Amino acid sequence: MTSTATDRAGAERTVRVAVLGCGNVGAALVGIIQERSEALAVQAGARFELAGIAVTDLSAPRPAHVPHDLLTTDAAALVADPTVDVVVELMGGLEPAGSLVRAALDSGRPVVTANKALLASDDGVALRTLARNRGVDLLYEAAVAGAIPLVRALRESLTGERIHRVMGIVNGTTNFILTKMTEQGADYAEVLIEAQALGLAERDPTADVEGHDAAAKAAILAGVAFGYDVAGDAVFCEGISSVTAEDVDFARRFGYVIKLLAIVERVGDDSLSVRVHPALVSEAHPLAGVRDAFNAVFIEGEAAGELMLYGQGAGGLPTASAVVGDLIDATRNLLAGTTAPAPDRQPARLLPADDLETGFCINLDVVDRPGVLAEVTAAFASHGVSIRSMEQEARSGADGTLGARLTFVTHRSREGDVRATLSELEGLESLQRIGGVMRIVGAS
Ligand SMILES: NC(=O)c1ccc[n+]([C@@H]2O[C@H](COP(=O)([O-])OP(=O)(O)OC[C@H]3O[C@@H](n4cnc5c(N)ncnc54)[C@H](OP(=O)(O)O)[C@@H]3O)[C@@H](O)[C@H]2O)c1
Repeated sequence: MTSTATDRAGAERTVRVAVLGCGNVGAALVGIIQERSEALAVQAGARFELAGIAVTDLSAPRPAHVPHDLLTTDAAALVADPTVDVVVELMGGLEPAGSLVRAALDSGRPVVTANKALLASDDGVALRTLARNRGVDLLYEAAVAGAIPLVRALRESLTGERIHRVMGIVNGTTNFILTKMTEQGADYAEVLIEAQALGLAERDPTADVEGHDAAAKAAILAGVAFGYDVAGDAVFCEGISSVTAEDVDFARRFGYVIKLLAIVERVGDDSLSVRVHPALVSEAHPLAGVRDAFNAVFIEGEAAGELMLYGQGAGGLPTASAVVGDLIDATRNLLAGTTAPAPDRQPARLLPADDLETGFCINLDVVDRPGVLAEVTAAFASHGVSIRSMEQEARSGADGTLGARLTFVTHRSREGDVRATLSELEGLESLQRIGGVMRIVGAS
């Protein structure tokens, strides 16, 4: 550490920051560091000086505020520069990001990252262990829900709380798509094209719409809120690509909205259920009102009760805001010779998906003849799935045949029992089609 931001002895200190990546978030971070230099120095107790900015393409167009003379394609040399005090990793992906973060931590330099994919990988567990063993910060507020101060709230304000459940809308792309489907009655495919045109969905939207991005965030939350190491690929995950306009309309008629939720829940004393799936959320629940690309996380704690944090979960500037907060934290800790709390973690005992218990809403199209209802309810009964309510609506099929739409809402039931019921129903001659099958949040 060298010069500026005056310390008690009157000397000025400077913290040299290596920024790996200058895309959406990296370029926004560089802008904030330049524009708010004085204010950040007051907060951090040292002035930030950019040591270098790693990119892959030196000739790619950059925002005017990015200093071209600091760009380098040699990220490893930048991390190895002994004058660098803090490394900020904003390149994304597993490699070379993982090796660069490891090199920085290994040499005793704190790291700030927004890389949820890396943190939720097996390497993420190893990197957190390395940081703890080396006594350096590895901070990642921006990796979950962008600008929302969630990781710090869980790690510090709620550190003494026994958390029962953390449940959130942590992917803006899917929330935008589901909001448009709800408010415009539009089809999934139509809204996905609109989201891509607005830059809210990638050209290949798989990671968002199939829930993988939310699963990585759920895995990170399992660690921060519950102290368990969970890998992203161990998270039960269903996306929204099979949600239809019909499902959304049905939900609305029954007082629900469909949301893609990441849910981390304590089950008994030593198990955790970690999952991502679309769910029916009562219109009265605070998460139901979270529209468009916004994120929100609902936390249920033993003493604190219910809390909700809401805000922008992505975008260059909102995400860079969270990175700056971590950069200041890391700098304060560096100056004080301390680190942010990083308690020991244990491997999680994950509840198998089949043992998950929740309420279900199941739509069935059946032929309209006497005895069908009895056949169908017998299938539910034979697997111990208790029906809470049922509605029947006449409908005519595409070929003009008369049929009925049966909508069942179940009491809390085991997922495995509901799956067994559905496969038995599939064997019934009277069944024309299994429509939407949706889990209900908060069902008793
Ligand atoms: N964007 C968001 O809203 C958001 C929100 C939360 C978290 N995050 C996370 O933040 C991180 C960055 O996201 P982003 O949207 O800013 O990504 P991005 O726009 O794709 O930018 C990635 C940057 O990293 C550079 N880069 C990639 N591989 C590199 C390598 N091997 N060596 C040197 N530089 C390399 C790229 O260089 P070039 O410019 O030369 O291609 C680019 O500048 C990711 O981990 C992401 O998951 C993003």
